[in-house]
Amino acid sequence: MDPVEEIKLRLDITEYIGRHVNLKKSGRNFKGLCPFHQEKTPSFYVFPESQSWHCFGCDRGGDIYSFLMEFNGINFRTALEELARAAGVELRPRTPEELEAESEADRLRHVMEMATDYYHTLLLTSPQARDARAYLKKRGFTRETIETFKLGYSLDEWHALRSYLLDKGVSVEEQVKAGLIVQKESGATYDRFRNRVMIPIHDRRGRVIAFGGRVLSAEDQPKYMNSPQTPIFDKSQVLFGYHLAGRAIREADEAVIVEGYMDVMIPHQAGFANIVAPMGTALSEAHLKLLQRLTRRFVLALDPDAAGIRATLRGLETARETLDREWQPIFDPRGLVGYEGRLKAEIRAVMLPQGLDPDELILDDPQRWASLIAQSQPIVRFYFEQLLQQENPDEPKGKARIIDAMLPLLRDIADSVEREAYIQEIALKLGLDAQTLMDRLRARERAEAVRRQAAVAPQRQALRSIDADIEAHLLATLMRTPELLARVDTLLTECQLEPITTNDFSTNCRYIWSAWLEISEHPEIDLTDLLPLEQIERIQTWVSTPPPDFTIEQLERDVAYTVLRIRERHLREEHQQLNTLIIEAQNQGDVIGQQYAEAMHSLALRKRRIQQALSDYTPSQKKKERL
Ligand code: UTP
Ligand code: MN
Repeated sequence: MDPVEEIKLRLDITEYIGRHVNLKKSGRNFKGLCPFHQEKTPSFYVFPESQSWHCFGCDRGGDIYSFLMEFNGINFRTALEELARAAGVELRPRTPEELEAESEADRLRHVMEMATDYYHTLLLTSPQARDARAYLKKRGFTRETIETFKLGYSLDEWHALRSYLLDKGVSVEEQVKAGLIVQKESGATYDRFRNRVMIPIHDRRGRVIAFGGRVLSAEDQPKYMNSPQTPIFDKSQVLFGYHLAGRAIREADEAVIVEGYMDVMIPHQAGFANIVAPMGTALSEAHLKLLQRLTRRFVLALDPDAAGIRATLRGLETARETLDREWQPIFDPRGLVGYEGRLKAEIRAVMLPQGLDPDELILDDPQRWASLIAQSQPIVRFYFEQLLQQENPDEPKGKARIIDAMLPLLRDIADSVEREAYIQEIALKLGLDAQTLMDRLRARERAEAVRRQAAVAPQRQALRSIDADIEAHLLATLMRTPELLARVDTLLTECQLEPITTNDFSTNCRYIWSAWLEISEHPEIDLTDLLPLEQIERIQTWVSTPPPDFTIEQLERDVAYTVLRIRERHLREEHQQLNTLIIEAQNQGDVIGQQYAEAMHSLALRKRRIQQALSDYTPSQKKKERL
């Protein structure tokens, strides 16, 4: 039996969740206070019959796996391993390569742990660390915080750590791999971190995977020396402080995102523990995915300098692309045009006072921090204020630019009342008519919805079982014979058509296809991390069915033909919608009509190419019989 199912059979969800949540019987089910949001009356239910759970307060829910994933903020693979242990089920043994990579990672983490202890002991006890201790004291650190974050000190010597680790049996090669020592071209090595306060960086399970080292005096450069990329450390994936912040983020149902190490540690010391910082990079997709497991409310604490704000707004772009959306239908006078996603997250921002980082501010007056966070502004308003400073709102062109920049953010607001309120606020400040702004937003939404039609549209799935069949056929064929993809892409390119992209899939298959591509590029990723089980089972069935007895050339033509047919369908739909929109636009004397006309032109061109190619690839009657 599939271990995933077997584990579910062996573990009782009520008993298992009951270990973490106080459950009371309620009819045939059980209920308790939801561990994922704050509440006073229970709306968290466990259903023994379906072995599932659901919170009617925060709308989270799922099976035993998703419970553990949410509860511990871990991925599917990790949850599976934990539950397998709890159930006494053996998972598929790892391949030798996986085992090798894992044991290397384990070994490197062990080396990092040794280094952490080494630096930490030096900081606490060594006479040479006197300045470092004084420095931390000056920055407001208590002994307890130094211990919580396991801060350390690296000696002002070239080979101190290297000798220490060599004595402990860690080879030079491993030390280089862990990023602790630097190897010159000559082969000579030296300690990367010297005379610095050492800040361990943990993964989400609390294991040290890297260091940031801060200089003690303002003259030294660079201010922070960080570990390089290693097999266990990828800075774009890590949030500093996450391992200590998880619980507080969930309890407060809010994550505060700051810029640096100090901005995490000192607030933590002052009791503001729901704080994390990216590692000197803009907020990435990985960061948001990590946080989204704990909360949907984010507060960005921003430096008032322009570069900081630019970086944040970049981060905001990522956020808008990454965070979950709710799909809502967009209607047009003549019917459904498509779906528009609204952000299922609340992003707020707070501007820090000039020249004061969170740590300084808190040391000065913790209450002030609390009230700053409480006064954080919705990102829409914040962004608007920024634009008012960048553009001239008194000029018509300036106004138009501000509006255009604001539209995507306004569109993201899930609550329509709230959305309208902001539109009115903005219209008022710009001296415009709110209705005009609203119309502009609607026109934009419709245009977007049309563009999206061929792309993402989860809800349409139910309406499109024919598409689903065709797409499933395509997917299965491509997966069974992996070399087909490159061959078909070549064929398509020769016809001046795009290679196969995720856009060719409009149903559920789209997600399967992107997951498939991702694991072909990154074999270290487990499919189970990317897809729900039902989908994985579908893939397993496909891949294990022997390929039909066709030559590769025949398969190639079959796939090319299928792709073309799908594209033709998509184009036909797009065509119809464009038609509707153009007529409507012309009725209203709208200039956007021109845009639609251009879209129509390019659409017609694509359609011609596809039809040409289709006539080349249509299977002959004889072939059809064999199919
Ligand atoms: P900041 O320059 O704002 O430093 O960089 P900070 O965190 O306020 O540190 P203090 O208060 O001066 O000690 C923000 C973050 O950017 C990264 C670090 O992660 C830092 O916390 N950074 C900055 C580096 O990696 N290297 C640097 O040289 C500077
Ligand atoms: Mn600072």
